[in-house]
Amino acid sequence: MEADLVTVLRCPVCSDALALTGRTAGCSQGHSYDLAKQGYLNLLPSASSGIDGDSAAMVGARTVFLGGGHYAPIRDALILAAAGLREDDLLVEVGAGTAYYLSGVLGTAPGRRGIALDVSRYAARRAAKVDRRIGSVVCDAWQELPLLDDSAQLMLNVFAPRNAAEMARVLAPGGTLLVVTPNQEHLAELVGVLGLVKVDQEKERRLQESLAGKFEQAGTELVESVMRLDRTAIEQLVLMTPSARHLNHRELAAQIAVLPEPSVVTLSVTLSTWQVA
Ligand SMILES: C[S@@+](CC[C@H](N)C(=O)[O-])C[C@H]1O[C@@H](n2cnc3c(N)ncnc32)[C@H](O)[C@@H]1O
Ligand SMILES: [Zn+2]
Repeated sequence: MEADLVTVLRCPVCSDALALTGRTAGCSQGHSYDLAKQGYLNLLPSASSGIDGDSAAMVGARTVFLGGGHYAPIRDALILAAAGLREDDLLVEVGAGTAYYLSGVLGTAPGRRGIALDVSRYAARRAAKVDRRIGSVVCDAWQELPLLDDSAQLMLNVFAPRNAAEMARVLAPGGTLLVVTPNQEHLAELVGVLGLVKVDQEKERRLQESLAGKFEQAGTELVESVMRLDRTAIEQLVLMTPSARHLNHRELAAQIAVLPEPSVVTLSVTLSTWQVA
């Protein structure tokens, strides 16, 4: 991780700013955190180390599925929504996974920087490799985020946990939060036949409630497309979702084997834009 990226981070113990010396990030109080050899920084307090992020298999499936471009309409919509960014703005993705969306929104501006936050070490390893302008940090999004107040101009939250108070603290005045949530129609063709976790009918209300008081909604956009997925892509798609944890993999393979190829699958998500209240 580049030293200038570490300067936007704060110590998870005392909240002082961190700075990089060699391969160790440290604060003025003497707390220190070694960079992992894969390039990410683990700022998860040891008490939280039992939290389950995505497994190696889920991150592997996500890397291959997203690499197939099936969710490119979501990435393109985020890039358009972030069009007002300046060259040297800092972007943060909460629950970044493989940093697919963060790297897309960073675009080609050489001075723009990004921080990918995820509780999964496997995701963090992957995000650390994506782009030199991205700093990859392991942390728990439900706790205090290890970032300085007012440090980011844009925050992304795509199918990921949202901690409104912390996201608002880290966003600079005038900063923007872009949130992507699935609609009822999302992957509908697969949900029933494969026994995937259904989208919560109350999702929209829960989104509003989770951000109320800290953010004001500035707009929403429906992002939809029709994906044509072969069986391998369907398997990767299922294995990267939370459904992967409770499905019997042998039964899943048998159910996928009888699906038409390609299968037509709906992509339907809402991209909402929020400003700090
Ligand atoms: C559905 S994935 C989305 C990843 C990425 N935004 C994408 O759409 O490709 C959710 C991500 O949130 C991470 N996650 C789950 N709980 C978390 C937590 N408490 N703190 C930080 N990240 C968390 C998971 O490890 C996973 O990478
Ligand atoms: Zn400290």
